[in-house]
Amino acid sequence: MNNLIIDINGLNKYFAAEHIVKNLTVQVAQGEIFGVLGPNGSGKTTAIRMMCGLLSPSSGQGRCMGLDIIKDKEKIKKSVGYMTQYFSLWGALSVRQNLTFVARMYQLQHPDARVEEVMAQFALTERQHQLARTLSGGWKQRLSLAACLIHSPKVIFLDEPTAGVDPAARQVFWRELYRIAAQGVTILVSTHYMDEAERCNNLAYIAKGRVLIQGKPNDIINSQKLYSWEIAGRDLPALEKRLLANTEIAHVCQRGNLLYITARQELPLAEMIEKFQPGYQICRCPLSLEDIFSCLSKGSTLIEAC
Ligand SMILES: Nc1ncnc2c1ncn2[C@@H]1O[C@H](COP(=O)(O)OP(=O)(O)OP(=O)(O)O)[C@@H](O)[C@H]1O
Ligand SMILES: [Mg+2]
Repeated sequence: MNNLIIDINGLNKYFAAEHIVKNLTVQVAQGEIFGVLGPNGSGKTTAIRMMCGLLSPSSGQGRCMGLDIIKDKEKIKKSVGYMTQYFSLWGALSVRQNLTFVARMYQLQHPDARVEEVMAQFALTERQHQLARTLSGGWKQRLSLAACLIHSPKVIFLDEPTAGVDPAARQVFWRELYRIAAQGVTILVSTHYMDEAERCNNLAYIAKGRVLIQGKPNDIINSQKLYSWEIAGRDLPALEKRLLANTEIAHVCQRGNLLYITARQELPLAEMIEKFQPGYQICRCPLSLEDIFSCLSKGSTLIEAC
């Protein structure tokens, strides 16, 4: 791959005897939005902190913007943008004061002009005098994103930037991400939201510290030998319980009025269900990333996406 901004090979992290990140290999090209997904505690934040020079790996190597993540970590820390998982600006300062403080920390030559520019870009000017702690979740995240871009970094790391933010605000946030990426900024973003996973150019799914699959969302979907069905009918929780007991079925999940089934092989599902309870409508449906990740987390075999 050309123009690699992040190029990580075989990274490991132990906390005491706990092997938290296992043989992490990730490559991200310039201007790409790369998503990192995985259950709570799977090592996403730890991996991000190693990639941006905040945490030393136990072993392995990697480069970020051409700089060595071990030897040059001080330089990396100053040049990248990092939005932490939890709001980490100052609640008792206004929007403007927060941005000015960050601009001064980076020792920008014209901090006030840059603050004006960033506030205009992120539609924060009208709220410049509002205390950060009084902003809604969506606006706090916009302020954090603005702060993380104040020194014009070429790569930004966003750790669950939209957690707890409503769908409309998340959509606005992602519009900003596309705009930023179109300017050539590389974005590595962790998320638990499947719609956000689909918005990424490439993504990696991590479980228990190990990347289980990585690739473009569509390639991941198309490369899996998994079959899925949707079922409509009465008392879906009871049906779910029965299907979960079947070892040929990898994943069962109710969404609204439908029950979604995923299996690793073609199954005569209609016949199987008819046997213990007739009257359900069963049809095949496209695989979703959520189905795939759920199957992967349960330790099923996977096919690498390109
Ligand atoms: N400094 C630390 N010392 C010891 N253990 C740690 C430390 N930081 C993280 N861990 C452990 O490493 C594991 C991975 O944590 P991490 O925060 O990287 O996961 P995560 O994927 O970001 O989770 P979440 O989705 O909840 O944010 C967890 O078991 C956590 O308790
Ligand atoms: Mg985390």
